[in-house]
Amino acid sequence: MAPLASIFKKAYYTLFFGIILYVSALFALTNPWLQRHALYVHKLHTAYWVDHNVPEQFGFAKNQITPFNFLTPDHETIYAWHVLPLGLYARHEAEMLRQPSGLSEDITQMKSFQLLRDDPDSRLIINFHGNAGSVAQGWRTDCYRSLSDGSTSNIHILAIDYRGFGLSTGSPTEDGLIIDGVATVDWALNVAKVPASRIVILGQSLGTAVTAGVVEVFAQRGVDFAGVVLVAGFSNLPDLLTKYSIAGYLPILSPIGPYPRLKKILRDHIIDKWPSTERLANFVRLSKRVRLFILHSKNDPEIPWTESEALFAAAANATTDGGMEVELFKKMKARTTVDMGDGTFISTWKTGGDKIIREEIVAYGHHSRILTYAPVALAALKAFDFDG
Ligand SMILES: *[C@@H]1O[C@H](CO)[C@@H](O)[C@H](O)[C@H]1NC(C)=O
Repeated sequence: MAPLASIFKKAYYTLFFGIILYVSALFALTNPWLQRHALYVHKLHTAYWVDHNVPEQFGFAKNQITPFNFLTPDHETIYAWHVLPLGLYARHEAEMLRQPSGLSEDITQMKSFQLLRDDPDSRLIINFHGNAGSVAQGWRTDCYRSLSDGSTSNIHILAIDYRGFGLSTGSPTEDGLIIDGVATVDWALNVAKVPASRIVILGQSLGTAVTAGVVEVFAQRGVDFAGVVLVAGFSNLPDLLTKYSIAGYLPILSPIGPYPRLKKILRDHIIDKWPSTERLANFVRLSKRVRLFILHSKNDPEIPWTESEALFAAAANATTDGGMEVELFKKMKARTTVDMGDGTFISTWKTGGDKIIREEIVAYGHHSRILTYAPVALAALKAFDFDG
């Protein structure tokens, strides 16, 4: 056989088997169990071999973090960290060192918990992390420090692992994660007794979808938080999957973009849809007071920053009765947009009563590292006391 023909034949077979593999993988993913593992990646974490109850391993001061558990109404055990701000720790160091270490049996007996509960000026950021890993993984621990360190900071952090993640029980579903998020806020309100006016909810990636679900529930209950910060979020999962790339190079559904019928079939098979645009719109509509910060980096390789544009548009639209035409929205947005150069900008939407929605598109930070960058800490800081 001529060598050229043989090369063509090889290339042809490679392509053929590649397509068969891709299509079988797509159909395998219609299995709910596999699909949820692919989406949440909750079994990929270090808690198997790194003891999360020794937070010094992650760079915290002795007993600065109190690991503890609480229960959800549907009987899952959630693993959580309470992070004491370092400046406050410095003022109580001797007492902090005498505290028991490890997983707390009764957090209400702990000095750091009492500092959170009894100080009328304490602030709390509740952090909902992205998919994969645990409270202690990746940039997350650096994020807690970036948000709460500082000699005068009174900002405590509460971070949890959703059901099925890290050391929490159960397995993840959309409804389940929102139950966990609501239970976390209920713990802060009822056990730590921090009023909602001193709580900021901060989510990243999948955590923005959890946040949208949680703040919608509390808006229905008439509870207004100090602020809400969404970092590297997405409009809804089916839309995202047509653009999403794992770690920036593995597109999942984008290859079937040109086949609308096939795309529809696969979209219909996505079990957990995470409709954040709708949930944020409801949150904005039902709340009396809104301080919503939406941040995204232009160089995010996993979720395109334009997804945050969609979140902002949905939230801003919900400040008006019946919504507004896209053209009018664009005009109004342009009027309140500050150009930061290189295509980055800040838009501040202040129409509709006591509701402020801010979109900040920055140049750096990728998908997760942005958590440790100043714009996120700044947004969280401002969210506690922001009037535009
Ligand atoms: C706002 O909502 C209305 C009604 O749902 C819709 O027709 C309009 O396109 C939306 N505008 C924007 C900017 O999304």
